[in-house]
Amino acid sequence: MQEIYDSKFVEELFDQMSDSYSRVNYITSFGFSNRWRYQCVKELNIQKGEIVVDLLTGMGECWKYILTKENEVKKLVALDFSKEMIKQAHSNRLKYPNEQIEIRRENIFKNGIKNESAEYVVSGFGLKTFDEKQLNKLALEIKRILKQNGKFSLVDVSVPKSIFLRFGYMFYLKKVIPVLGKLLLGNPETYKMLGIYTENFKDSKRVFQVFKENGFEVEYISYFFGCASGIKGIKR
Ligand SMILES: C[S@@+](CC[C@H](N)C(=O)[O-])C[C@H]1O[C@@H](n2cnc3c(N)ncnc32)[C@H](O)[C@@H]1O
Repeated sequence: MQEIYDSKFVEELFDQMSDSYSRVNYITSFGFSNRWRYQCVKELNIQKGEIVVDLLTGMGECWKYILTKENEVKKLVALDFSKEMIKQAHSNRLKYPNEQIEIRRENIFKNGIKNESAEYVVSGFGLKTFDEKQLNKLALEIKRILKQNGKFSLVDVSVPKSIFLRFGYMFYLKKVIPVLGKLLLGNPETYKMLGIYTENFKDSKRVFQVFKENGFEVEYISYFFGCASGIKGIKR
């Protein structure tokens, strides 16, 4: 079981999924994924002329909510370790010719982002592939990267509390998605993993606890009846 949280395993999984990730992510969240990204970024209340770090950026799915005209972001630093996801992030960058985007292909647990260099850290849908020890390291990294009073917001899919929603959602993730994965990709095993990670992850309560223990001011957020959850907070 533990090897599903090994960086190498996760990296290869996303390399394999990169071609169809956007479509499947959209389907696995019933089309809600973009709404949850939008809400997650909105929680930061980005002020003009500041630096945002998008951890576990994938292909830069959160960028359109970060790099808005109103936000006038000074610089976006985007980090991911999957070669294939980063390749697509570089293509995505072409959509933002006037923005300063630094794309880093690095493991979050061994990255070169400077200490206290950002006002904001955001991350969409990357929590579930971390075990508790890694979540603790993630909290330490976010603490290191953020300036004092810097803000963070993180979101991921979750197992909803309501028994009806939970049954429906887990059936969908574990049974339907692998079939869709096969139709879309020919590899149901890869997509089965999303259901396994989500089932183990449950929701962001553990993440909340870990960040609290690391001294952050932190708040729990439930998105759409708990089908996604996250935390937001401040480094004091
Ligand atoms: C589910 S995707 C999320 C992509 C994007 N943020 C989104 O909103 O859809 C998770 C991403 O985290 C990356 N990732 C997972 N563990 C990582 C680690 N230890 N260091 C860097 N990237 C990691 C994977 O390569 C993958 O692209």
